[in-house]
Amino acid sequence: EKRRLNKQPYGRKRDMPMNIAIDGPVGAGKSSIADQVAQRLHILHLDTGAMYRTVALYMLRNGIDPQDEQTVSARCGEADVRVAYRDGAQRTMLGGEDVSDLIRTGEVSAAASAISKWPAVRRRMVAAQREIAATADMLIDGRDIGTRVLIDAPVKIFLTATPEERARRRYRQQIEKGDMTPYEQVLAELNARDAQDMNRETDPLRQAEDAVLVDSTNMTPEQVVD
Ligand code: DC
Repeated sequence: EKRRLNKQPYGRKRDMPMNIAIDGPVGAGKSSIADQVAQRLHILHLDTGAMYRTVALYMLRNGIDPQDEQTVSARCGEADVRVAYRDGAQRTMLGGEDVSDLIRTGEVSAAASAISKWPAVRRRMVAAQREIAATADMLIDGRDIGTRVLIDAPVKIFLTATPEERARRRYRQQIEKGDMTPYEQVLAELNARDAQDMNRETDPLRQAEDAVLVDSTNMTPEQVVD
């Protein structure tokens, strides 16, 4: 009887929030899919990439080379990264400043991929993400959610698509925004970021053994959300 009262069907304690993990490479559509699924389930979406991007922005603003492990590790604690929710949408804050839009540049993307290699940065981010995840039912997207941050998440998704398809999607998005970077360059940057994210020593991007693989190459966004 006690067990029945304390446990939900999939074995988590009643007082623990429901966390869904979505991992995958650059441009797989994690963020937009996660947003839509979270809306359908009436839960929050935590974009953990935004947190790494915010640390990267802090380093760039302070003239610190993202590849300089020693300096980045020594100073990452200075970056006051917080997540807030406004009308259900995540706003990512650096020392009280809303940097949600500033962290979406190509320069910050490359710097985020670089600083996320360093174990000192990852330790801080993983701890902060676990704290946030413990506060509410959430869908959490990133690279190491199913393999490190929330290894006990009851649902894990690994969302991917071929590099060419991901680059095509990114290219189309950028054209819409007036960014004319050629497709070949978009593909090259995506491959470089994939390689850095998958080959780093600490918690590289990989599919958790108990994750469900969703290959969205030939799927519409609606099909993926379903
Ligand atoms: O999801 P994104 O493109 O916004 O993430 C930016 C970078 O942050 C990505 O290149 C790798 C890193 N990252 C990570 O290492 N672990 C996460 N959980 C999320 C992002």
